[in-house]
Amino acid sequence: MKSIVLAGGAGTRLWPLSLVTSKQLQPVYDKPMIYYPLTTLIESGIRDILLISTPVDTPSFQKLLGDGSRFGIRLSYCVQQKPEGLAQAFTLGDRFIGQDNVCLILGDNLFSGFTEIPSACQRFTSGGTVFGYEVSNPQRYAVVNFDPAGKPLEIIEKPTHPKSNYAVPGIYFFDSDVVPIARAQVPSARGELEITGVMNEYLRRGTLQVLKVGRGAAWLDSGTTSSLQEASAYVQTIEQRQGIKIGCPEEAALKQGFLTPIQLKRQFDDGTIPSCEYRSYLERLVA
Ligand code: DAU
Repeated sequence: MKSIVLAGGAGTRLWPLSLVTSKQLQPVYDKPMIYYPLTTLIESGIRDILLISTPVDTPSFQKLLGDGSRFGIRLSYCVQQKPEGLAQAFTLGDRFIGQDNVCLILGDNLFSGFTEIPSACQRFTSGGTVFGYEVSNPQRYAVVNFDPAGKPLEIIEKPTHPKSNYAVPGIYFFDSDVVPIARAQVPSARGELEITGVMNEYLRRGTLQVLKVGRGAAWLDSGTTSSLQEASAYVQTIEQRQGIKIGCPEEAALKQGFLTPIQLKRQFDDGTIPSCEYRSYLERLVA
């Protein structure tokens, strides 16, 4: 399984915060937002990752994350000239995807305790897999319509009158058919190549699984000033209460065996990771 992280867009809802710093580089408590989806991918055992961002912001991501070797992953970059929709990730990433399965994750989505993600990734063989997560404000998201037997019928982007409370979070697993499916999409009324168009095509083919997520899994998006603040408060509460970190890619990489304790310690010795609270945490992991 390969993965694409989509971390572009205009970020207008965070203005003026996003005027000089990309939305996905804003702090969510003690780390940049992009660390969280990156950690989710590493926890799922994914090592080959393509990050897509804007012409202006891509160099900042390269400065922050480099070629990924610091986290034991292989990271490459692609520029999206204009925010023309989530489904464009698959056409921009067509050569990267090749014949492989791919997970698309949005750079402003934060998942915690979402054990369904690594298990769906491990079990994935073909078609598409997305999640249905109960929310109180489905109008803000893609929403799943189910028939009385609970079978998904259609997925609607930001419906005015949602037919369920099940929103689709920003993580999607597809086989390589996603490339021609995305290429066949036409811009919606708002001028975007919609991810719902891709999901609905898999539904039409009978190959989309919508997994309802149980209690206990946290999904936060940090695309507005309030949700950014809520995400920070959530991370701070858990981290201070438990003395653990959420969204720490080095920790996930150690657990996956992508990074050895020796490789991490070398980053302390050569000054890659300077003395700071973040390093003290990592030092405790490899003590
Ligand atoms: O958070 C989950 C929701 O994300 C889904 O339920 C929706 O179906 C999906 O459309 C999306 O809704 P948003 O309103 O949050 O989409 P937004 O335009 O904010 O884009 C999501 C992220 O993707 C954001 O970090 C910016 C980035 N993006 C977006 C577009 C349209 C790009 O990098 N390129 C783009 O062309």
